[in-house]
Amino acid sequence: MKILFIGDIVARPGREVVKEVLPNIIKKQKIDLVIANAENLAHGRGATKDTIKEMLDAGVNYFTSGDHIFWQHSFEDEIDSLPVLRPANFPGDLPGKGYTLIDAGKNGQILLINLLGRVFLNERLDDPFRKADEILNLFLDDDQIKYKIIDFHAECSSEKYAFAYYMDGRVDAVVGSHTHVPTCDNIVLPSKTLYISDIGMTGIIDSVLGVKNDIIIQYYLSGLNQKFEWENTGRKAFRSVILDTVLNTIERFDNIL
Ligand SMILES: [Fe+2]
Ligand SMILES: [Fe+2]
Repeated sequence: MKILFIGDIVARPGREVVKEVLPNIIKKQKIDLVIANAENLAHGRGATKDTIKEMLDAGVNYFTSGDHIFWQHSFEDEIDSLPVLRPANFPGDLPGKGYTLIDAGKNGQILLINLLGRVFLNERLDDPFRKADEILNLFLDDDQIKYKIIDFHAECSSEKYAFAYYMDGRVDAVVGSHTHVPTCDNIVLPSKTLYISDIGMTGIIDSVLGVKNDIIIQYYLSGLNQKFEWENTGRKAFRSVILDTVLNTIERFDNIL
């Protein structure tokens, strides 16, 4: 089975890139399942039912997310009816769920988990390491599950590596998201877990992580907060990785448009 995992899709330009290239990639690369991070889908901040539907129509099968997922407040009422995870280690009883089983037909069940790192992010989160233990323990004896993937949405590469080695041999893949910057450290860890620190964003790359350059430069020069506006022009990138469950490989699959 080949799983395509797309990093943070940023705002309308990111959605346009996905619509433009994904159907062909699925055909040419013989992709069986597409997962994407949805936390920046709508205006770069969170997701909506409509933007999720747009991406489902383009070929995405399931979504993970991250710290921004509830920035569109309407999404709190929508998430339970959509194939979207929110981080499992948000505290309390938020809507949505942090893990799911995806039925991949002849390829069996896939356990998909979404967790948020804490370093430089949000001190109110539950411990993602112990939350991963807790979730994996629920499925220890489930032999219907053929593959386990975690989207570890985090800022800090050392936390990502520590988490990946903690998971090595216990899940099939740990892929990173959130920084919007692609890394080239895709690797098979010693106990066979596939890993990459960050898939990177899909959207306008002539920007500061998707936001207009001038605004962020002024943010740093002036010392004052600025209203963020998302870049609409410039070069676009499609950033993803392909997980081959038979060969046990993780390869970058990028496209600059
Ligand atoms: Fe994020
Ligand atoms: Fe993001």
